[in-house]
Amino acid sequence: CVDIGTLYKDTGYFTYDPGYGSTASTKSAITYIDGDKGVLLYRGYPIEQLAEKSNFLETSYLLLNGELPNKTQFASFEHDITHHTMMHENLKFFLRGFNHDAHPMAMLAGSIASLSAFYHDKLDVDNPEDRKLAAIRLIAKMPTIAAAVHRRSVGWPVRYPRNNLEYVTRFLHMMFEVPSEPLELNPVAAKALDLLFILHADHEQNASTSTVRLVGSTGANPYASIAAGITALWGPAHGGANEAVLKQLEEIGSPDNVETAVKRAKDKNDSFRLMGFGHRVYKNFDPRAKIIREMCHKVLNELGVKDPLLDVALKLEEAALKDEYFVERKLYPNVDFYSGLIYKALGIPTEMFTVMFAIARTSGWIAHWIEQHETPGSRIGRPRQIYTGADVRDYVGADKR
Ligand code: ACO
Repeated sequence: CVDIGTLYKDTGYFTYDPGYGSTASTKSAITYIDGDKGVLLYRGYPIEQLAEKSNFLETSYLLLNGELPNKTQFASFEHDITHHTMMHENLKFFLRGFNHDAHPMAMLAGSIASLSAFYHDKLDVDNPEDRKLAAIRLIAKMPTIAAAVHRRSVGWPVRYPRNNLEYVTRFLHMMFEVPSEPLELNPVAAKALDLLFILHADHEQNASTSTVRLVGSTGANPYASIAAGITALWGPAHGGANEAVLKQLEEIGSPDNVETAVKRAKDKNDSFRLMGFGHRVYKNFDPRAKIIREMCHKVLNELGVKDPLLDVALKLEEAALKDEYFVERKLYPNVDFYSGLIYKALGIPTEMFTVMFAIARTSGWIAHWIEQHETPGSRIGRPRQIYTGADVRDYVGADKR
């Protein structure tokens, strides 16, 4: 507790916790993390089991509803998602307003916020059916909009969703021009992307999810709330790390330069950090990173991709895990260390990496937004501050300053 000083003593005492390292902002029944043991559960199910046995849509259903669906429930959920994959035709004109070199995350955040304008009349955040419809719309439209954003960047016309394809395959089909051997029909590519989506689907009160909840706590509509989550995800300390990792691996360039990079990361006079290392909660291996590491080898092998950056990544991981600085601070590779190498092998451009993360995290964000609205007595989020400014003083006219 902190005494806030002489000025407004009657404001009383409250906790001062920069970065909220020790403050729970909410109760939640969605995701459990034990950062010391490297455990991650969605609704009680270990991430390793979901990664092996589930698929992204089933995992999304689990996050939203608390239980795995039976066959009928899954068929109905998939049907609902499939019938909301189209984006409003006017969104194409909206996207045309962006310069072709706008960052895809800027276009995605703008487009998702704009859904509030398309659907506001019909949405009552206090009505469970409306909330469910918003969740379906967001999960269904996110890949369509993400692919349209990419196509805007490269100057291709929008490709409409083919609803006879499955969720991930449909996205790959919308993303790419039809190559000679269609990537979207490659089961290794689809499985890898589906797995990445499962691993990124939720992670309790990270910066973007807390942002969604903070915005949601004001009663704002779900599209505005999720758009805020997208902008929070964009930063390199959060979801933007996957893009930053790949750029850093490219800069390092060769396993021979790894030692210098590790040295720089330890230098407190240098702002350089090893991107993809460290986590606020995990003080052990990020369980998602273990799964992705294995998947990365498999995907590169099966797609026949020889990426020299994988050798740089492996050497970097080995060097950091042996280094006292990283060991003492419990800095392990996180979920984003290897995900970029998989995206790259799938032909997804670097600027789109964080957009991929956003597609997956949408199901977690909207599950939290719904849980927040279902919880009786939810209050508006309103952190306090410790005032460090001037004491009370009198206004002085410009001629006397
Ligand atoms: N490289 C070098 N040193 C690091 C790194 C890193 N990647 N991460 C943390 N440290 C050091 C800090 O300098 C600090 O050292 P000190 O105690 O000597 O001052 C110590 O480790 C603790 O670091 P904090 O920044 O206090 O840890 P925090 O929990 O606030 O930050 C974060 C966690 C943001 C993930 C941080 O580790 C980081 O910047 N990592 C790189 C970016 C990244 O990979 N982000 C993705 C996170 S996962 C996700 O969002 C999906």
